[in-house]
Amino acid sequence: MEVVIATPQELAVLAADAVEALLRRKPDAVLGLATGSSPLRVYDELARRHAETGLSFAQARGFMLDEYVGLAADHPERYRNVIEKEIVSRVGWAPERVQGPDGLAEDLAQACAAYEESIAAAGGVDLQILGIGTDGHIGFNEPGSSLASRTRIKTLTRQTREDNARFFGGEVDQVPRHCLTQGLGTIMEARHLVLLATGKGKAEAVHQLVEGPVSAMWPATIMQMHPHATVLLDEAAASRLQ
Ligand code: F6R
Repeated sequence: MEVVIATPQELAVLAADAVEALLRRKPDAVLGLATGSSPLRVYDELARRHAETGLSFAQARGFMLDEYVGLAADHPERYRNVIEKEIVSRVGWAPERVQGPDGLAEDLAQACAAYEESIAAAGGVDLQILGIGTDGHIGFNEPGSSLASRTRIKTLTRQTREDNARFFGGEVDQVPRHCLTQGLGTIMEARHLVLLATGKGKAEAVHQLVEGPVSAMWPATIMQMHPHATVLLDEAAASRLQ
């Protein structure tokens, strides 16, 4: 595991460099996309490079990490809509080249299985962008998730719903209780994992991720087993590292 400590803007540039290098080497690369605050600067940087240098996503494909269950198709916090707004529409990416788990499917288990098949049919994810929850989740694999899990329905912890209430006008009751998420086993099959964490609130989770024992109680610790994992931290997120 490679750990880099820098300013949030420098971290975004490093993550965007990794995406750009991949796209230049392999224009039809498969990118794994996280939602939430952590990747926003990276998406800003990629949008800037697309506009100013013509960095092209035209042949690339994208797979989202997760989705809330039951949010209306036009809900602004539905992850599909967030991803379209934050990255897809800004880099000239055809929306149909980016997929997410279908949180509105009638048969959610079937939607999860279909999603796994789509990722496999695309040849797997080349580079997966990740954030980390204060409780150590990646994707929405909350503490206690099987380290071998695949895309499935999960119940969000109270902690995660409180953390994400800021996107729902501060109303924790407005945050869905369930989500679909790529499993830890799914995420671990991506060829390069790039995790971003900033702020003191992430310090304990980052300490566990980098220095803790591998444990389902801190799901991100599975990344210690990955052959190519990059962890990008600001000083505050790194403040509990030995
Ligand atoms: C989002 C996701 C989550 C977030 C995590 C951190 O698609 O999978 O694991 O990355 O909850 O969220 P932020 O970045 O908002 O602190």
